[in-house]
Amino acid sequence: MSFSSPQQRQAFIAGIPKAELHLHIEGSLEPEMMFALAQRNGIDIPFASVEEVRKAYAFSNLQDFLDIYYQGMNVLRTEQDFYDLTMAYFNRIHTDKAIHAEIFFDPQGHTERGIAFSTAIDGILRAMGDAEAHLGITSKLIMCFLRHLSEADALATLEEATPYLGKISGVGLDSSELGHPPSKFAKVFAKAKALGLKAVAHAGEEGPPDYVWEALDLLKIDRMDHGNRSLEDPRLVERLRDNQMTLTVCPLSNLSLCVVDNLTDHPLKKMLDLGLRATINSDDPSYFGGYLNDNYEATASALNLDKDDIVALAKNSFRGSFLGEETIAQSLRRIDDYVARFDG
Ligand code: ADE
Ligand code: ZN
Repeated sequence: MSFSSPQQRQAFIAGIPKAELHLHIEGSLEPEMMFALAQRNGIDIPFASVEEVRKAYAFSNLQDFLDIYYQGMNVLRTEQDFYDLTMAYFNRIHTDKAIHAEIFFDPQGHTERGIAFSTAIDGILRAMGDAEAHLGITSKLIMCFLRHLSEADALATLEEATPYLGKISGVGLDSSELGHPPSKFAKVFAKAKALGLKAVAHAGEEGPPDYVWEALDLLKIDRMDHGNRSLEDPRLVERLRDNQMTLTVCPLSNLSLCVVDNLTDHPLKKMLDLGLRATINSDDPSYFGGYLNDNYEATASALNLDKDDIVALAKNSFRGSFLGEETIAQSLRRIDDYVARFDG
């Protein structure tokens, strides 16, 4: 069913219960917080004002962004910094009616600059507990390996995570995609899966369909991050559709990093029409100009998504989550109730 007006569409998106499955917590560091933490920790940053920081967020590809993203996280020093960062994200998505989030963090981005693994994860986990207690938002934590570093480094990071394994739901693979295929990390993913962790990987963001095949066949992923370039290979589309592999698609990220030239060219609607289990996510919201609902809204507007599309996307965000079956079923019923109330 189509919406009677853009305002009606906006209201529908604003209120529908949803989950976020692709969010790098370090990518939710707003320039205001960057300045506040720099001051709190006595760190010099190479920007004179919040406006100057925002102006620097003009990227022509993934690497452009990553350079500034790793620089930005340098202000994160204490457990309280990681707590404040994570809590600010939860408070923000609470206003978007997100009720569940599966959060990535990049431990190597911190340990490499001398911040203890425990400092980062303790702050993030404390905020996750408080978000559930005070906002009713449940969450899971996914530890990503930086693919521009070696597999030996990833294995050492997995080892370092041993005391926290009960609190980490899965492992992921992020950072510079081109030249760092999933095959480089086959051993560490096999080890993580043997430990009972879920596996996800960024693939097909800039990299070719071959990288998506490798993520499926060699890393044995449970969920695919991005996956845009899968559409270039009809056999791959069939595989993703037949297995109902969830794709965590990030439209405003794709626009910012020039994966698409224009949101009207974005493949999200095509993915849904092909029967793929696509979801909408924000990736690094402070860098790409929008949180969860901004992504839904901009994409719905550009691709003329109707109510069924929005409902499918919100439902997919729970179907693709690592929540238990009963909680997923409950969340889907919550969406049905919302739709009935909205229509009534
Ligand atoms: N790290 C943070 N955001 C990322 C993205 N979109 N792709 C790869 N690595 C990332
Ligand atoms: Zn990402």
